[in-house]
Amino acid sequence: MRRRMTLLPRLLLEVAMLLALTSAMASAEELSPQRKGELRNLIMQDCGSCHGMTLKGGLGSALRPVDLDGVEEETIARIVLDGVPDKPMPPWRGLLSDSEALWIAHALKAGVVK
Ligand code: HEC
Repeated sequence: MRRRMTLLPRLLLEVAMLLALTSAMASAEELSPQRKGELRNLIMQDCGSCHGMTLKGGLGSALRPVDLDGVEEETIARIVLDGVPDKPMPPWRGLLSDSEALWIAHALKAGVVK
């Protein structure tokens, strides 16, 4: 009887966590092919203007898959959204949504620029 009482809240917590996780994943996949094309252009033109047209580095650091190895996608997305304080890296929050920033992080790690 006592066991059941503690099991239920834990179960509810797990269900809530699972829901949060799947909704986060779903929102990351909601981007249209057209928006992904726009984001790809943004990476090449806007990010590329500082990080180098082939993302090998310039004013900003290199952003090729090899350079971002070991850096979590969430970390990259947060840098994109918030920028780097005291550096020229601007915050993109307002221009990019959370899932768009995550998609960019994923694209950079996957090697969007060959
Ligand atoms: C105005 C120039 C500029 C633009 C535009 C810019 N960045 Fe940056 N970025 C920088 C600078 C400068 C740094 C800091 C490098 C350092 O720490 O010395 C930086 C840092 C970063 C970092 C952290 C890299 C690391 O190794 O810690 C990431 C990731 C990044 N930028 C991604 C992007 C993406 C994606 C875009 C386009 C959406 C972008 N940046 C656009 C200048 C820029």
